[in-house]
Amino acid sequence: MQKTILSGVKPTGRPHLGNYFGAMKQFVELQNKNKDGINYFFIADYHALNLIQNAKEIRELSLGVVIDFLAIGLDPKKSVIFKQSDIQEHTELAWIFDTITTVPYLKRAHAYKDALTKGKEEEVSAGTFTYPMLMAADILLYDTDIVPVGQDQKQHIEFARDTAEKFNRIFGETFKIPDAYIVKNAETVLGTDGKKMSKSYNNTIPLFATDEEIEKTVMSIVTDSSGERPENVFAIHSLFKSKEELEKVYKENKGKYKVLKEALIKDLKDFIKPMRKKREKIASDKEAVYKILEEGKKKARATARAKMQRVKKVIGVD
Ligand code: AMP
Ligand code: TRP
Repeated sequence: MQKTILSGVKPTGRPHLGNYFGAMKQFVELQNKNKDGINYFFIADYHALNLIQNAKEIRELSLGVVIDFLAIGLDPKKSVIFKQSDIQEHTELAWIFDTITTVPYLKRAHAYKDALTKGKEEEVSAGTFTYPMLMAADILLYDTDIVPVGQDQKQHIEFARDTAEKFNRIFGETFKIPDAYIVKNAETVLGTDGKKMSKSYNNTIPLFATDEEIEKTVMSIVTDSSGERPENVFAIHSLFKSKEELEKVYKENKGKYKVLKEALIKDLKDFIKPMRKKREKIASDKEAVYKILEEGKKKARATARAKMQRVKKVIGVD
């Protein structure tokens, strides 16, 4: 495979099973398949700034995402790992996109609509409103072919495609049109309450959870006693075990919700433990992690700078 693959994760909290199965697992698979191409995975810290406005916190969370990336198997020899804020071209290009985009178009974006459901319009930041244009810049700067994400980001990638097409129409062929990569079985991973697993809903199972956290969160999964089997438990279980295997266990233990939850606890512990151990080891050498970011910055910057020069030329500000 010889493609350009790119995705970002906001440093807004600990990653959960939704982030992993919906997106991050695919980062690793694609990285390993795309041997002759180039892979970019970055920390979307400027996107997170809409939510986290505390220097110490954002610094720690950003470093945390790099450690998460390495713990799940992203390899700095195969992928460029960098921080969005290290590459000034992202915000520079986002501004240019803002100028060719209309207000009603941006009003349709999920990030903005979600913010409206959580608070008053007067409280939504302009950064949340223009969020999709920064995301379009992230993607289009690198001539990206494939963007692995969860279903909730699909619309934002369509915005990036539209923006590339619009720019190309106005200024001539400049940007490649990217495709979203969304896996079928985990496009929207559900949380302990049966709603989309999300940091903001308090229904997550952390990817690097301790044994105690696994026990506590699994026991809190909402079960519906009217069904054939506890669907919310089964859904999480089937993220990492085959349906055939599970159907047997769930049939044998029909109605015994506690036994089934205990089975999920055991399997989750076995699944999470090696990654958690690896994460602890990586986290113990912060200098090595900073070095990876430094190298990623150099590589990403070279590509971004060249692309931006081209953009400035076609719009006439060179
Ligand atoms: P974020 O933490 O919002 O930056 O999300 C990182 C990645 O995880 C994005 O590609 C999201 O689409 C994906 N993601 C987040 N929550 C879920 C979920 N519940 N199911 C599937 N994918 C998800
Ligand atoms: N908006 C994405 C999210 O909330 C994060 C993100 C920012 C991203 N820039 C990106 C994902 C570019 C893919 C490509 O999850």
